[in-house]
Amino acid sequence: MSRQLDLQPVAGTDGDLLATLQAASLPTDDLTESGRNFFQLSDQGRKVGFGGLEIYGQHALLRSVVVVPEHRGHGYGAAVTNLVLDQAIGHGVRTVYLLTVSATSFFQRLGFAQVDRAAGPAAILQTRQAASLCPASAALFARTIKG
Ligand SMILES: CC(C)(COP(=O)(O)OP(=O)(O)OC[C@H]1O[C@@H](n2cnc3c(N)ncnc32)[C@H](O)[C@@H]1OP(=O)(O)O)[C@@H](O)C(=O)NCCC(=O)NCCS
Repeated sequence: MSRQLDLQPVAGTDGDLLATLQAASLPTDDLTESGRNFFQLSDQGRKVGFGGLEIYGQHALLRSVVVVPEHRGHGYGAAVTNLVLDQAIGHGVRTVYLLTVSATSFFQRLGFAQVDRAAGPAAILQTRQAASLCPASAALFARTIKG
């Protein structure tokens, strides 16, 4: 089946974003705070997933990557990650970080490598995701990107 993928900005107040993240047990407490950029991925007009980005100069936090449960396993997770990374490139970001508890191999396959959490940049470690919302057991991953 041919695909028509489309990434569009979505507000942190979006009800589908909130519900999909909650259903996946991902953090939602800070969705409406400033500095958050969220996107929804559609395929032929069907909403299939979401991703988010917090930009801190050359560093960014990739967050809230989630695919609607019935659409998982069809490459949408990889697609939304790569399309959100394209957004980061457009903003001059050089290194993208993320925290994850369970999806480590998923992100490794997309070019992210685990880094010592304590050695991450202050801007990333001070995000609400890193400082309070994600469990201390969440691993920090990084990927250098090029424009
Ligand atoms: C992780 C997630 C975004 C992947 O979405 P997806 O559309 O199924 O991903 P893709 O189809 O692009 O890739 C599927 C591959 O990733 C693997 N994968 C999916 N979820 C995974 C996870 N939690 N951990 C490790 N690998 C995972 C699948 O096994 C599959 O591998 P295969 O191709 O060898 O069969 C989706 O499972 C999800 O929304 N999970 C809940 C939220 C979450 O954990 N987000 C990440 C933290 S921010």
